[in-house]
Amino acid sequence: MCGIVGYVGQRRALPVLLEGLKRLEYRGYDSAGVAVRAENGTVVVEKRAGRVRVLEQAVQLQSGRLSGARIGIGHTRWATHGCPSDVNAHPHADEACRIAVVHNGIIENHGRLRAELIRRGHTFASQTDSEVVAHLIEEGLGPEVPAVGAAVAEDMTLHTGRRLSRAVQAVLPRLHGSFALVIMWDAAPELLIGVRYQTPLVIGASGGERFLASDISALLPFTRDVIVLRDGEMAEVRPDSQCLFTFDGALLPDRPPRHVSWDAAAAERGGFAHFMLKEIHEQPEALAQTLRGRLGPDGPVLAELATGSAAAALAEARRAVLVACGTAHHAAVIGRALLEAWAHLPAEADLGSEFRYRDPLITPGDLVVAVSQSGETADTLAALREAMRRGAIGLAVANAVGSTIARQADVALYTMAGPEISVCSTKAYTTQIEVLSVLALQAAAVRCTMPAAEIARWAAEIARLPGLAREALALEPEVRALAAWLAAQQHCFFIGRGLDWASAMEGQLKLKEITYLHAEAYAAGELKHGPLALVTEGTPVIALFTQAALAEKTASNVAEVRARGGRVVGVCTHALRETADPVCQDLLVLPDVPAPLAPVVAAIPLQLLAYHTAVALGTDVDKPRNLAKSVTVE
Ligand code: G6P
Repeated sequence: MCGIVGYVGQRRALPVLLEGLKRLEYRGYDSAGVAVRAENGTVVVEKRAGRVRVLEQAVQLQSGRLSGARIGIGHTRWATHGCPSDVNAHPHADEACRIAVVHNGIIENHGRLRAELIRRGHTFASQTDSEVVAHLIEEGLGPEVPAVGAAVAEDMTLHTGRRLSRAVQAVLPRLHGSFALVIMWDAAPELLIGVRYQTPLVIGASGGERFLASDISALLPFTRDVIVLRDGEMAEVRPDSQCLFTFDGALLPDRPPRHVSWDAAAAERGGFAHFMLKEIHEQPEALAQTLRGRLGPDGPVLAELATGSAAAALAEARRAVLVACGTAHHAAVIGRALLEAWAHLPAEADLGSEFRYRDPLITPGDLVVAVSQSGETADTLAALREAMRRGAIGLAVANAVGSTIARQADVALYTMAGPEISVCSTKAYTTQIEVLSVLALQAAAVRCTMPAAEIARWAAEIARLPGLAREALALEPEVRALAAWLAAQQHCFFIGRGLDWASAMEGQLKLKEITYLHAEAYAAGELKHGPLALVTEGTPVIALFTQAALAEKTASNVAEVRARGGRVVGVCTHALRETADPVCQDLLVLPDVPAPLAPVVAAIPLQLLAYHTAVALGTDVDKPRNLAKSVTVE
C-alpha cells in the first residue's frame, strides 16, 4: 500500500505534490519521490529513501530549476518488491526519462515482463515490479508520428493525449495483479493518465486544475470535489477536464464530482473513526493481496522457497522453531500447529524474549521462523540471530519489506497487509496466519506428507479466506451490542481448546491492550485447575467453538462456567451452532471454515469486540497507554 499524488494546473506543482505526500505518508513511509516537467520540457525525477521531509530537503536544493513546473506526480512508498532505497523509490521512468510512472499495488508477472524487456534491450534502474510499466509504455508509444493535418495546437494536444492513452491501454492487459497508476510524458505538458485496478485512485477537480490521489485525504487542502475511479477505469486528466475510459478505450459518460465534507483526519482513516477499525475492515483485501501469486491450482507456489537453503530446510529439517512477540506470537502458535499437522514437522512456538535466554537446543539445519509485523522487534530479532548462530536456517514472516528481521533471515516471506498504523495489530495477524498456512502446505508438498489432491483442496480452502473474512465483518452490529455490556465489566475470560485456545489468547490480548479491562485466556480444559474459582455471578466468558473435534468438550467446560453463574458469549461456526447454543447466552455465528484455518475468521469478531468496547469506554484506541507499535528494546 503506497500513496500516489498527481497535479496538473496553473500553480507550482512541487508544493502541491509535497503537501499531498505528507498527507499520504501514513500509507507508506520508507521512501518518497516526485517527477515534474520542468519549464525546458524535460521530466525531472527526485526520489529519496526515508520520510517525505528527506525528499523535501532534496527538492529544495533544486527549487530554482523546478519552480516553474505546472505538472507532476509523487509517491510515498511501502515496499513490496525491492528494499527501500533511493533507486527503488517511485516515480520510475524509461531510460530517456520521458515517461514517468507512480504505482500502488503489485505487478505479479513483473519477472517475466522484465526478462522480456531486457531481451529487447531495455535496462532497469531498480529492483521494483513497477518499473516494467514505464518501459512497456515507452515501447508502446513507438516512434513519433506527426498528426496528419494537425494545424491547430489544440488538435495536437488531443492527438498527443490519445497517443499516450492508447499506449497505456495496450500495456494494461499485460499486467497481472493490482494497480493504481499515474503516468506523465514529457511530450504532453498538460496531461496525466490515471488508471485504477483493484487499488483506489481519485480525481480532484477545482476550476482550471486537477489532482489525482490514492485517497481523498491528499486532496483536501486543494479541493473537496472528487471523482472516484472505479475498477477497470482510466482517465485522461487535463487542467480543466477529465475523460474517463474503459481499459479497452471506450469513452465513458462524464461523472460529476462528488462533494466530500470529511475533515482531514477522518479522510486519512478512509472515513473510519480509528485506524484500528479501518485496518480491521481492510482484512479481506489484505488477505487477498497476501495470497497473490502464491497459490496455483495444484497447491502453494512460494517462489521465495523454490531453491536455496531455506527450501532445503523446509524439505529436510527435523525441527522448526517459531519465534515472535505479542500478537505475532499467537500467529506463530497457529503456524506451529499447521506445520505439525500438515507437514509432520515437529515444531515449537516460543516468545522471542524467552527463547534467546534458554540455551535453546538447535541442530544445524533446523528451521527458525521469525514472525513479525514490523520486522524490528528486538527480542524476535535476537531470537532469530541466536538460532541462526547455532546453525538454524532463518525464515522471516514480516510485513515491513527490507526490515532488519527480513534482511537477517535467509529468506523473507512477506505479508502484504500494507502499513499497520494502529498499535493494536489486526490485519498483520490474520495475514501472518495465512502466510504460515501456505508455508505449512508447501512443507507438506515437499515433505510428501499429503496426497496431491488434498494439497490442492487445502489451497482452495486458503483461497476462500478473504471472502470468509468479509462475511465475518458482517457480525459488527451484533458485536457492538455485546460491547456495550462488556464495557461495564471488570474482567473477562476467553476460553477454547486446540486452535481455539490460540484464538482466545489473541482475543484477550486485544481486549486488554485497548480497553484496559483485565482479560485472561485459558485452555478450556484448564479452568477447573484454578481459574474457575474466579467465576461468580455474571463473570464474562467468551468461548470459542470452531474446532469440531473438540467442540463438545468445550461445551462441557462452558456448562461448568454456567453452573457458577458465568455469562457466556459463544463464538462458533455455523456448523457448531447446535453444540454451542445450549450452553451460551449469546452467540456470534461465523461462516463455516475448516478447523485449521478458523483462527483467521475467528479473529475478526474478537477484534471488533475489543474495538467497540474500547470506544464505549472512551480509551485512545489507536495509541493505547504504555504501548508502542514497534518495540525495539529488550
Ligand atoms: C508490540 C505491538 C504488538 C505486536 C508486537 C510484536 O507489542 O504493540 O501489536 O504484536 O509488538 O510486534 P511485531 O512488529 O514483531 O509483530
